Amino acid sequence: MSLNLDTVVERFCEKFEASGNLSEKAGAYIPGGYSRSSLTFGPHAIFVERGEGAYIQTIEGHQLLDLHNCFSCNILGHNHPAVTEAITEFAPNGFCFGNPMEHEHKLAKILCERIESVEKVIFSCSGSEACLSAIRIARANTGKNKIAKFEGGYHGLGDEFLLSLHPDPALLAGPADRPLPVANSAGIPNYTAANVIVLPQNDLESCERILTENASDTAGVIMELQTGAGGVIDFDPDFVHGLRDVTQKLGILLIVDEVITLRAAFNGMQSLFGILPDLTVMGKIIGGGLPLGAVGGQEKYFRMHDEHLIYHSGTNHGHPLSTIAGIACMETMNKKAYKKLNDFGSRIKTELNEWADEKQYPFFVNGTGSHLGYEITDEPNRKYKSCRDMMTFSNEDNMQIFAFEMANQGIFPMYRGQIALSMSMSKKDIDSFINTSKEILDALYGNS
Ligand SMILES: Cc1ncc(COP(=O)(O)O)c(C=O)c1O
Repeated sequence: MSLNLDTVVERFCEKFEASGNLSEKAGAYIPGGYSRSSLTFGPHAIFVERGEGAYIQTIEGHQLLDLHNCFSCNILGHNHPAVTEAITEFAPNGFCFGNPMEHEHKLAKILCERIESVEKVIFSCSGSEACLSAIRIARANTGKNKIAKFEGGYHGLGDEFLLSLHPDPALLAGPADRPLPVANSAGIPNYTAANVIVLPQNDLESCERILTENASDTAGVIMELQTGAGGVIDFDPDFVHGLRDVTQKLGILLIVDEVITLRAAFNGMQSLFGILPDLTVMGKIIGGGLPLGAVGGQEKYFRMHDEHLIYHSGTNHGHPLSTIAGIACMETMNKKAYKKLNDFGSRIKTELNEWADEKQYPFFVNGTGSHLGYEITDEPNRKYKSCRDMMTFSNEDNMQIFAFEMANQGIFPMYRGQIALSMSMSKKDIDSFINTSKEILDALYGNS
């Protein structure tokens, strides 16, 4: 089998023809065809009819092994009985009320008990909203204005966060050790960029210098402990610990965005690093596949109701169906479940990395636990320490071929090399991803 982008895309378009047609039709009413910019998978998104366990069924009737899992939300897989039963049992009671319900409290308790740095939690409907709340809480508690974020860091659709997600180093992004904010969307006002400081990944010395220069007006640093939507980059433990110390020394709150990384460990990825952030943002798995976001942290930061200091509200915040699904999901994700899922993840990473090293293919897998990123680089043994490395050395054509060919062969990854595993997967499913990856790489690099 020899692979090139044109033929792979052609086969993709043939296999998912009905989705292509529907995308075009949907464009009549929804700009671009979908409400999530991130859904487009090359020529068009793949429309789905239903999901069951580890698989989705497309409108063409194809069964795909789902390694996307709704941008990593579905840690249990699709239609998991624990979640489905919990929400169908509740549904006849009505869907939403202008009154609190007890299960919101129950989910909050689960999160506070699991995440050591979290004493109090407030809910919203999405990770994006929770990130926006987190920076408001940081500003309110420090009396400062600016927010620092990392190049390649993703925190949802807030203006502050859509800077330097994928900065083009050759153009406006400035030197690697002093990055400049670059908007990743039209419509971001100049005054937002003026209040955002952009930090380089895995470069503690530069971060300390930049933060020290801006300390008098910087309220918080927001970071993922392993990036996702910006491409999967792992952080050195020394870097993360150093940043915790620097922010503490400078009176800047450290906001850890665990919207994805909560799936890495029972006590959150912060427990793997052994750090205690000031604020933690959560989302995705805490809603069990339904929309939910949350910010947590020490009690002293949450002077909301008592002093009426920080406004936090939303019609559907802590929605009953989402919190009920979240409880079912989090309770199912006990320590044993995390171990099973993470063992699958480390098998994929170890086996593919060893195999690619041996073959001297320019490919590696990054990440921890059940959320991983595969990368096709310019040369063997290349490893990425930052999103700039990724943007400079990634072989974009081959990354695309890999993703489309996966879909052609019945596996659905996220577009930018991310994969997220689910508890519904079996050993056979993991074998299938590993073997298909090898086949595609052999076809690309000629040793088949
Ligand atoms: C780390 C991180 N933070 C925040 C968000 C935004 O969450 P949502 O899409 O629920 O608004 C995402 C979404 O992918 C994310 O990956």
